[in-house]
Amino acid sequence: MKNIQISPSILSADFSQLGTEIKRLEEGGADMIHVDVMDGHFVPNLTIGPPVIKALRKHCTLKFDVHLMISPVHKYIKAYADAGADIITIHPEATQNLKESIKTIKDFKKKVGISLNPESKIELLTEFLDQIDLVLIMSVNPGFGGQKFMPEVLDKIKQLKKIQQEKNLSFDIEIDGGINFENCKIAIEAGANILVSGTTVFKSNDGDIKKNINLLKLK
Ligand code: DX5
Ligand code: ZN
Repeated sequence: MKNIQISPSILSADFSQLGTEIKRLEEGGADMIHVDVMDGHFVPNLTIGPPVIKALRKHCTLKFDVHLMISPVHKYIKAYADAGADIITIHPEATQNLKESIKTIKDFKKKVGISLNPESKIELLTEFLDQIDLVLIMSVNPGFGGQKFMPEVLDKIKQLKKIQQEKNLSFDIEIDGGINFENCKIAIEAGANILVSGTTVFKSNDGDIKKNINLLKLK
Protein backbone atom coordinates (compact mmCIF):
# COMPACT_ATOMS: atom_id res chain seq x y z
CA MET A 1 0.00 0.00 0.00
CA LYS A 2 1.60 3.29 -1.08
CA ASN A 3 1.73 6.21 1.36
CA ILE A 4 -0.75 8.98 0.59
CA GLN A 5 1.04 12.06 -0.76
CA ILE A 6 -0.30 15.59 -1.13
CA SER A 7 0.71 17.71 -4.13
CA PRO A 8 -0.70 21.20 -3.49
CA SER A 9 -1.51 23.17 -6.65
CA ILE A 10 0.10 26.61 -6.74
CA LEU A 11 -2.68 27.76 -9.07
CA SER A 12 -4.48 28.73 -5.82
CA ALA A 13 -1.39 30.43 -4.36
CA ASP A 14 -0.74 34.19 -4.21
CA PHE A 15 0.94 34.64 -7.61
CA SER A 16 2.61 37.83 -6.40
CA GLN A 17 4.49 35.78 -3.75
CA LEU A 18 5.10 32.41 -5.40
CA GLY A 19 8.59 31.96 -3.90
CA THR A 20 7.28 32.50 -0.39
CA GLU A 21 4.17 30.39 -1.07
CA ILE A 22 6.14 27.30 -2.10
CA LYS A 23 8.29 27.70 1.03
CA ARG A 24 5.04 27.72 3.07
CA LEU A 25 4.00 24.50 1.33
CA GLU A 26 7.35 22.86 2.06
CA GLU A 27 7.20 23.91 5.73
CA GLY A 28 3.56 22.76 5.86
CA GLY A 29 4.50 19.21 4.92
CA ALA A 30 3.66 19.07 1.20
CA ASP A 31 5.14 15.99 -0.51
CA MET A 32 5.60 17.78 -3.85
CA ILE A 33 4.46 20.97 -5.61
CA HIS A 34 1.79 20.72 -8.32
CA VAL A 35 2.55 23.31 -11.00
CA ASP A 36 -0.36 23.94 -13.36
CA VAL A 37 0.91 25.15 -16.73
CA MET A 38 -1.85 26.44 -19.00
CA ASP A 39 -1.49 27.97 -22.48
CA GLY A 40 -4.92 29.49 -23.16
CA HIS A 41 -5.25 27.02 -26.07
CA PHE A 42 -5.53 23.50 -24.66
CA VAL A 43 -7.48 25.06 -21.75
CA PRO A 44 -9.23 28.46 -21.55
CA ASN A 45 -6.69 29.91 -19.09
CA LEU A 46 -3.06 31.07 -19.17
CA THR A 47 -0.70 30.69 -16.20
CA ILE A 48 3.07 30.25 -16.01
CA GLY A 49 5.88 28.78 -18.10
CA PRO A 50 9.53 27.69 -17.94
CA PRO A 51 11.04 31.01 -16.74
CA VAL A 52 8.83 31.04 -13.62
CA ILE A 53 9.52 27.38 -12.89
CA LYS A 54 13.26 28.06 -13.28
CA ALA A 55 13.01 30.99 -10.85
CA LEU A 56 11.09 28.90 -8.29
CA ARG A 57 13.42 25.91 -8.57
CA LYS A 58 16.09 27.38 -6.28
CA HIS A 59 13.55 28.24 -3.57
CA CYS A 60 12.34 24.72 -2.95
CA THR A 61 13.76 21.23 -2.56
CA LEU A 62 10.45 19.43 -3.15
CA LYS A 63 9.73 17.67 -6.44
CA PHE A 64 7.96 19.81 -9.04
CA ASP A 65 4.94 17.86 -10.27
CA VAL A 66 4.41 19.79 -13.52
CA HIS A 67 1.00 19.41 -15.15
CA LEU A 68 1.23 20.57 -18.78
CA MET A 69 -2.18 21.66 -20.03
CA ILE A 70 -0.68 22.89 -23.28
CA SER A 71 -0.89 21.82 -26.90
CA PRO A 72 1.09 21.07 -28.89
CA VAL A 73 3.15 19.77 -25.96
CA HIS A 74 5.94 17.64 -27.52
CA LYS A 75 8.18 20.48 -28.67
CA TYR A 76 8.09 22.10 -25.18
CA ILE A 77 9.10 19.07 -23.09
CA LYS A 78 12.81 20.04 -23.14
CA ALA A 79 12.05 23.56 -21.86
CA TYR A 80 10.19 22.19 -18.82
CA ALA A 81 12.80 19.53 -18.18
CA ASP A 82 15.55 22.19 -18.29
CA ALA A 83 13.52 24.56 -16.07
CA GLY A 84 13.54 21.99 -13.25
CA ALA A 85 10.41 19.84 -13.56
CA ASP A 86 10.76 16.45 -11.85
CA ILE A 87 7.50 14.90 -13.05
CA ILE A 88 6.21 15.99 -16.46
CA THR A 89 2.55 15.15 -17.00
CA ILE A 90 0.98 15.57 -20.41
CA HIS A 91 -2.48 15.04 -21.92
CA PRO A 92 -2.71 12.39 -24.71
CA GLU A 93 -4.89 14.73 -26.79
CA ALA A 94 -2.04 17.31 -26.81
CA THR A 95 0.54 15.22 -28.67
CA GLN A 96 0.48 13.55 -32.08
CA ASN A 97 2.70 10.72 -30.86
CA LEU A 98 2.21 9.78 -27.19
CA LYS A 99 4.83 7.00 -27.38
CA GLU A 100 7.42 9.48 -28.68
CA SER A 101 6.51 12.09 -26.04
CA ILE A 102 6.82 9.52 -23.26
CA LYS A 103 10.26 8.54 -24.59
CA THR A 104 11.36 12.17 -24.79
CA ILE A 105 10.39 12.85 -21.15
CA LYS A 106 12.31 9.72 -20.10
CA ASP A 107 15.33 10.76 -22.22
CA PHE A 108 15.51 13.85 -19.99
CA LYS A 109 15.51 11.51 -16.95
CA LYS A 110 12.19 12.90 -15.73
CA LYS A 111 9.21 10.95 -14.41
CA VAL A 112 6.38 10.60 -16.91
CA GLY A 113 2.73 11.30 -16.13
CA ILE A 114 -0.29 10.98 -18.41
CA SER A 115 -3.42 12.94 -17.53
CA LEU A 116 -6.98 11.99 -18.47
CA ASN A 117 -9.74 14.58 -18.60
CA PRO A 118 -13.07 13.58 -17.03
CA GLU A 119 -14.57 12.47 -20.35
CA SER A 120 -11.40 10.65 -21.56
CA LYS A 121 -11.38 6.84 -21.34
CA ILE A 122 -8.48 4.90 -19.77
CA GLU A 123 -8.12 3.01 -23.07
CA LEU A 124 -6.18 6.09 -24.26
CA LEU A 125 -3.27 5.03 -22.05
CA THR A 126 -3.61 1.34 -21.09
CA GLU A 127 -0.91 0.24 -23.58
CA PHE A 128 1.56 2.66 -21.93
CA LEU A 129 0.91 1.81 -18.26
CA ASP A 130 4.09 -0.27 -18.02
CA GLN A 131 6.17 2.68 -19.32
CA ILE A 132 4.89 5.57 -17.18
CA ASP A 133 5.35 6.64 -13.57
CA LEU A 134 2.00 8.33 -12.91
CA VAL A 135 -1.58 8.57 -14.13
CA LEU A 136 -3.29 11.87 -13.35
CA ILE A 137 -7.06 11.53 -13.24
CA MET A 138 -8.81 14.90 -13.64
CA SER A 139 -11.85 15.24 -11.38
CA VAL A 140 -12.69 18.62 -12.94
CA ASN A 141 -12.46 19.91 -16.50
CA PRO A 142 -8.97 21.45 -16.63
CA GLY A 143 -8.45 25.21 -16.61
CA PHE A 144 -9.36 26.56 -13.20
CA GLY A 145 -9.07 25.92 -9.47
CA GLY A 146 -12.06 25.95 -7.12
CA GLN A 147 -14.33 23.80 -9.30
CA LYS A 148 -16.74 21.08 -8.08
CA PHE A 149 -15.43 17.51 -7.75
CA MET A 150 -16.79 15.04 -10.34
CA PRO A 151 -17.22 11.71 -8.46
CA GLU A 152 -17.89 9.75 -11.68
CA VAL A 153 -14.13 9.74 -12.40
CA LEU A 154 -13.57 7.45 -9.39
CA ASP A 155 -14.60 4.50 -11.58
CA LYS A 156 -11.52 5.14 -13.72
CA ILE A 157 -9.33 5.09 -10.62
CA LYS A 158 -10.84 1.75 -9.58
CA GLN A 159 -10.21 0.35 -13.09
CA LEU A 160 -6.59 1.57 -12.99
CA LYS A 161 -6.05 0.10 -9.53
CA LYS A 162 -7.34 -3.26 -10.77
CA ILE A 163 -5.01 -3.22 -13.79
CA GLN A 164 -2.09 -2.14 -11.59
CA GLN A 165 -2.64 -5.09 -9.25
CA GLU A 166 -3.33 -7.62 -12.05
CA LYS A 167 -0.18 -6.63 -13.97
CA ASN A 168 1.91 -5.88 -10.89
CA LEU A 169 2.69 -2.36 -12.10
CA SER A 170 3.88 0.47 -9.84
CA PHE A 171 2.60 3.71 -11.41
CA ASP A 172 1.19 6.33 -9.01
CA ILE A 173 -2.47 7.28 -9.28
CA GLU A 174 -2.98 11.01 -8.77
CA ILE A 175 -6.37 12.75 -8.66
CA ASP A 176 -6.71 16.43 -9.46
CA GLY A 177 -9.58 18.85 -9.06
CA GLY A 178 -12.06 19.77 -6.35
CA ILE A 179 -10.42 17.58 -3.69
CA ASN A 180 -11.58 18.51 -0.17
CA PHE A 181 -11.91 17.06 3.33
CA GLU A 182 -15.16 15.27 2.42
CA ASN A 183 -14.15 13.55 -0.86
CA CYS A 184 -10.47 12.81 -0.11
CA LYS A 185 -11.50 9.60 1.71
CA ILE A 186 -13.43 8.15 -1.26
CA ALA A 187 -10.61 9.15 -3.62
CA ILE A 188 -8.08 7.28 -1.47
CA GLU A 189 -10.43 4.28 -1.05
CA ALA A 190 -10.85 4.16 -4.87
CA GLY A 191 -7.07 3.84 -5.20
CA ALA A 192 -5.55 7.32 -5.54
CA ASN A 193 -2.25 7.68 -3.68
CA ILE A 194 -1.44 11.29 -4.64
CA LEU A 195 -4.01 14.03 -4.06
CA VAL A 196 -3.70 17.37 -5.80
CA SER A 197 -5.37 20.22 -3.97
CA GLY A 198 -5.28 23.97 -4.45
CA THR A 199 -8.30 25.64 -2.89
CA THR A 200 -8.60 23.30 0.11
CA VAL A 201 -4.90 23.54 1.03
CA PHE A 202 -4.59 27.31 0.63
CA LYS A 203 -8.03 28.53 1.68
CA SER A 204 -9.41 26.17 4.39
CA ASN A 205 -8.92 26.69 8.16
CA ASP A 206 -7.70 30.29 7.66
CA GLY A 207 -4.96 29.03 5.36
CA ASP A 208 -3.40 26.66 7.92
CA ILE A 209 -1.46 24.65 5.33
CA LYS A 210 -0.04 22.07 7.76
CA LYS A 211 -3.49 21.35 9.22
CA ASN A 212 -5.08 21.14 5.76
CA ILE A 213 -2.43 18.78 4.42
CA ASN A 214 -2.78 16.49 7.44
CA LEU A 215 -6.57 16.49 7.16
CA LEU A 216 -6.33 15.48 3.48
CA LYS A 217 -4.03 12.62 4.52
CA LEU A 218 -6.80 11.52 6.91
CA LYS A 219 -4.43 12.16 9.84
C1 DX5 B 1 -7.11 22.45 -12.97
C2 DX5 B 1 -5.76 22.08 -12.36
C3 DX5 B 1 -5.89 21.62 -10.93
C4 DX5 B 1 -6.49 22.69 -10.00
C5 DX5 B 1 -6.78 22.09 -8.64
O1 DX5 B 1 -6.99 22.54 -14.36
O2 DX5 B 1 -5.13 21.06 -13.09
O3 DX5 B 1 -4.60 21.23 -10.46
O4 DX5 B 1 -5.58 23.75 -9.87
O5 DX5 B 1 -7.33 23.12 -7.86
P1 DX5 B 1 -8.53 22.82 -6.83
O6 DX5 B 1 -7.96 21.87 -5.80
O7 DX5 B 1 -8.86 24.17 -6.27
O8 DX5 B 1 -9.63 22.19 -7.62
ZN1 ZN C 1 -3.37 20.19 -12.23
